[in-house]
Amino acid sequence: MICLDWASPQPARKSLVTINDDVYIQAEPLGVVLIIGAWNYPWALTLQPLIGAIAAGNAAVVKPSELSQNSSSLLKQLLPHYLDKEMYPVVTGGVPETQELLRQRFDHIFYTGNSTVGKLIMEAAARHLTPVTLELGGKSPCYIDKNCDIAVACRRITWGKFANCGQTCIAPDYILCHPSIQNKVIEELRLTLLEFYGEEPQTSPDYGRIINQRHFERVLTLMEGCTVAVGGGSDKTQCYIAPTILRDVLPHARIMQEEIFGPVLPIISISDVSEAIHFINEREKPLALYVFSSDKKVIKRMLNETTSGGVVVNDVMMHYTVTSLPFGGVGNSGMGRYHGKHTFDQLSHHRACLIKSLAMESLNKARYPPLTPSRLRRAKFFMTSRLCTCAQATCAWAVIATMLALGLLIALLIVLLKVQQSY
Ligand SMILES: *[C@@H]1O[C@H](CO)[C@@H](O)[C@H](O)[C@H]1NC(C)=O
Ligand SMILES: *[C@@H]1O[C@H](CO)[C@@H](O)[C@H](O)[C@H]1NC(C)=O
Ligand SMILES: *[C@@H]1O[C@H](CO)[C@@H](O)[C@H](O)[C@H]1NC(C)=O
Repeated sequence: MICLDWASPQPARKSLVTINDDVYIQAEPLGVVLIIGAWNYPWALTLQPLIGAIAAGNAAVVKPSELSQNSSSLLKQLLPHYLDKEMYPVVTGGVPETQELLRQRFDHIFYTGNSTVGKLIMEAAARHLTPVTLELGGKSPCYIDKNCDIAVACRRITWGKFANCGQTCIAPDYILCHPSIQNKVIEELRLTLLEFYGEEPQTSPDYGRIINQRHFERVLTLMEGCTVAVGGGSDKTQCYIAPTILRDVLPHARIMQEEIFGPVLPIISISDVSEAIHFINEREKPLALYVFSSDKKVIKRMLNETTSGGVVVNDVMMHYTVTSLPFGGVGNSGMGRYHGKHTFDQLSHHRACLIKSLAMESLNKARYPPLTPSRLRRAKFFMTSRLCTCAQATCAWAVIATMLALGLLIALLIVLLKVQQSY
């Protein structure tokens, strides 16, 4: 039922010129959408856009990531059981298959992955003027204020950082905090890790592995030259990297140059909120920003003086679960937004519709030549006067004020008349 409502014409505001016409916005399917998924959440990151594409009336080609091979082949096997094969084909394969797909003409490309590939996708799309949604990533900062319940903050951060072994696009990438609370933060993170994954995280059923050897090596290389406060261990045979906290990390350290995408959490010292804001603004616009504080002023400053795809105060990642909120990046973290109705909107064309009748032609005279000054005056009047709608609060107030003034005037007149009569 909700979907019917989304797809129905949405009335738009009218002016005096259009008062007698139908003015509305009609969501239409774009056509065929190419959905390129990512390996870190191989189901959610393909099916979520697919659901929106179907809701908006599109056909879609689904290309799951070749790195999450088993999920990819299962998707190819299962999807045709539930959906029309012709309308929603699944194409598996690696770089050559993706390149071949990108040579085709689509009506929209929905890509989830990193900025490097995002640029290639956009380049390929440009050849056909195909619009894109790019769900990219980047380093999502996490600021912990001195004025905050550090134990609670660290529990929430531990959950967000180490779920899926840190391979989450909106995982908190690094912590910014004052040096005076660093030890406390490390201690709380350590205790939470113990509670979540036990003495030996390698044996915990709730702790994941790195996707492959290449990423395993990449994450280990990022850690080089840093001081390990917690964890640090690894096991190449299993692509296992222990939950790791790094202390006193310098801003130019290697781990601060790219998205970590692994279970390693660096802590960087900053002297105050202003420095944290400066640190964040010096870098690419993040996909997510996390702020932990009990101080309303600090929260307000962080929100006002930074930007990011999404922001969460006193928690991490939970904005992803709020389907009424648009999910997506800004700048280097991506473009376009989805989730809930936002996916429907993103994968629809919003067609402007003005339906007039052939009657009342005299009203149109003002715009036809010969263009005399009086016609110009008429045209100006009709084009600029807006009708009052509930949305225009100031306009409504003007009406109320006029009514009140008129009422007072009438009352005054009556009183005056009565006074006159009594003489
Ligand atoms: C993928 O499937 C193969 C064959 O069923 C299996 O041997 C392998 O362990 C699976 N890989 C993962 C990562 O589960
Ligand atoms: C981006 O993703 C591609 C494909 O998954 C990968 O080959 C490449 O190394 C990644 N680049 C970065 C900078 O992470
Ligand atoms: C937001 O920040 C700007 C400076 O970046 C400042 O001028 C403005 O007053 C702030 N607004 C609020 C509501 O705090």
